[in-house]
Order: sequence, then C-alpha cells, then structure tokens
Amino acid sequence: MWKKILGLGASKEEKDLVALYDRIPKDRRPRHVAIIMDGNGRWAEGQGLLRTAGHAQGVKTLERIMETCVDLGIEVLTVYAFSTENWKRPRPEVDFLMNLFSEYLDKKIEKMDANHVRLRFLGREDGMSGMLVQKMHAAEGRLAKNDGMIFNIAANYGGQDEILRAVQTLAARAAKGEIAPEDIDEKVFEAALDTADDPPVDLVIRTSGDLRLSNFLLWQAAYAEFWFTKTNWPDFTPEEFVDALVDFAHRKRRFGGLDPSGK
Ligand code: FPP
Repeated sequence: MWKKILGLGASKEEKDLVALYDRIPKDRRPRHVAIIMDGNGRWAEGQGLLRTAGHAQGVKTLERIMETCVDLGIEVLTVYAFSTENWKRPRPEVDFLMNLFSEYLDKKIEKMDANHVRLRFLGREDGMSGMLVQKMHAAEGRLAKNDGMIFNIAANYGGQDEILRAVQTLAARAAKGEIAPEDIDEKVFEAALDTADDPPVDLVIRTSGDLRLSNFLLWQAAYAEFWFTKTNWPDFTPEEFVDALVDFAHRKRRFGGLDPSGK
C-alpha cells in the first residue's frame, strides 16, 4: 500500500488505482458500506448461460470490491449473499450457492487474513448444512484476531428476522430478571443484533436496477444514503464503486436535523 501511495516502484496499474481512489475526498468516505449484489441471474441469462454461472462470476466481482474497500480503509463492508427468502429458489440453485460459500471460505481465507480482514456471518444458522456452519465458525474464529476491515456476509439473513431474534434474546433476559424492560434503549438493542459493535450503515449500494431494500439491514440502514445502478453485479467494477463513493461524499446528511449551512 505504501508503495502504491508513494508511487515508488509502483506499476502503472497501481498508479491508476491511486488516481482512482484519489477521486474520493478522504474525510468524506463512508465507514460502513452495504451492498445488495443483485443481477447475477439476469447477467447469466443475457449471456445465454445458466443462472449459476452468474453467481460464480459474482464471486469474482465481490473479491475485487472487497480488495477496493480494504485499500480505501472502509471500516465495514456488509454484503447480501443469501436472504431468508432465497430458499424459495429451485433446489439446484440453492445448493450451488451453498457450495459457492463453502468454496469461497476454502479458497479466500488466506487472502482475507493477509488483508487483516475480520469475517462475520449475519443471519440464521438453521437450514444450512452442519458442515457449512462448522466451516463458517472456523473461518470467523481464524480471522477474529485481525484488526482490519470487518467483512460481514449476510447469509440466510433477513432484516425482520434479525430484529425478531434480537427481541427474543432481550425478552428472555428480561424474563430472567437480567435486564429491566425500560433499560432496553437503542444501544442495548443494537448490541443484540447480528451487527453488534458495527457503526451504522452509511451507504447502501444496489446493482441491477431494482429500487428496493429487500429486507436488508432494516435497523442499521435507518439513516443510510442509497445508490442504485442498472449494472448487473457481475459487471460492477471498482471504478463504478468509486463513482458511488464520490456521489456519497457530496451528499448532505442531516440525520433528521438541519444543515449547519441553514439549507
Ligand atoms: C442476487 O442475484 C444474488 C444472489 C441471491 C446471490 C449473491 C451471491 C453472490 C454474489 C456470490 C456468493 C457470495 C459469497 C459471499 C461467496 P439474482 O440471482 O437475484 O439475480 P437476478 O435478480 O438477475 O435473478
């Protein structure tokens, strides 16, 4: 990274990357970016391929965007990999996605470790195979000591489901007398969510043209900015990601208050 910044012996590719990153004002970068990686199926169908080929290509995009986030010093990247509603898809597609997660953990853990990434899965474990859950725990454990970017993979995740699980946890604690109902404030509630300790989502990116949140991070995205593109996820590039971050840098965020400039 230093080589890249100082331009010392940096390749043209690295210098191009630094020029790309320099487009984003340093003091206006999001801390937490969340991405709905949509359009894998449409990408594949457009190429005359099976939908699963779109998911395989989507993993390559994810790798590039994750590296970009690490380079940019983004604190948290959360991606929507599989929703609680995605079980409704044909079994072969679901199985393919589960295998893809498993393969991803096998092949990419070294790279994540080298990038000091901390990995965490958001969502329910039930429904997923015991072997996969074991692998997810092992990967989380192995990367837990790292101090770099937090990489959240939402798998078997739904925002409403996450909120209900947090409510159940807190209600159980209240029933045992561990906590008084009136002590359940925003901080206590957030600590019971899958994203405990993460900063709130600053920017939600959704690819492939649909303009909806699809049950993603309902609590955490309360004051997030949104950025949509018609590009299908497999075609999404670091350049377009930087476009989103430049746009974000120029947004006026008021969090329900007034702009200090009076506008
Ligand atoms: C949405 O596209 C995408 C998904 C449901 C799966 C996303 C998964 C990946 C990008 C790869 C796996 C991720 C990891 C962490 C290894 P869609 O299938 O709904 O596309 P469509 O709307 O065009 O049908």
